[in-house]
Amino acid sequence: MKNIVLIGYMGAGKSTVGIQLSDRFQIAFEDTDQVIEKRQNMAVSEIFEKYGEESFRTMETELLAQMAERKGRRVIALGGGTPMRFENRERIKALGIVIYLRARPDTIMERLSGDMSRPLLRGGGARQKIEQMLKERGPVYESLSDLTVDTDGKAFENIVDEIGGFYEAACNKRTEP
Ligand code: S3P
Repeated sequence: MKNIVLIGYMGAGKSTVGIQLSDRFQIAFEDTDQVIEKRQNMAVSEIFEKYGEESFRTMETELLAQMAERKGRRVIALGGGTPMRFENRERIKALGIVIYLRARPDTIMERLSGDMSRPLLRGGGARQKIEQMLKERGPVYESLSDLTVDTDGKAFENIVDEIGGFYEAACNKRTEP
């Protein structure tokens, strides 16, 4: 049995969907941002300020390597930038069934409005930044995913059902003789 690995841009709903999936399958939920924050005893935004983005990216890469060594299955939500490091990509695929939660810029703007916790979107021009980053990141997210789920205008419950059905089918397929 494999992990469920959620990828996608900030505000795509990885944490909300991840928690609901973990309830549904009764398996633990882990958010890589939260693990790193706990380890560093600092918010992601503070890590960016104090050590710089590259150091944060290295922390993500190290955490992925550690996750690959573990047994059991979990729902894992990855930070939106994790797939962008080339060396992380094989590790992400090897972790489990990869689900891309896709969202349009409008949806992302709406979900992140008033949220100041994302250092990459600070300093104005958020919409343009989102559009530009989605152009770069979208193809990478898609190339890694076993399933892409459009989340715009959908209730989280429906997104969870869609992923849950896909995951069950994928697990059954693997256990067939
Ligand atoms: C980032 C996404 C954030 C966090 C950091 C950088 C990114 O995680 O890792 O602010 O580069 O897209 P979420 O996708 O969970 O918001």
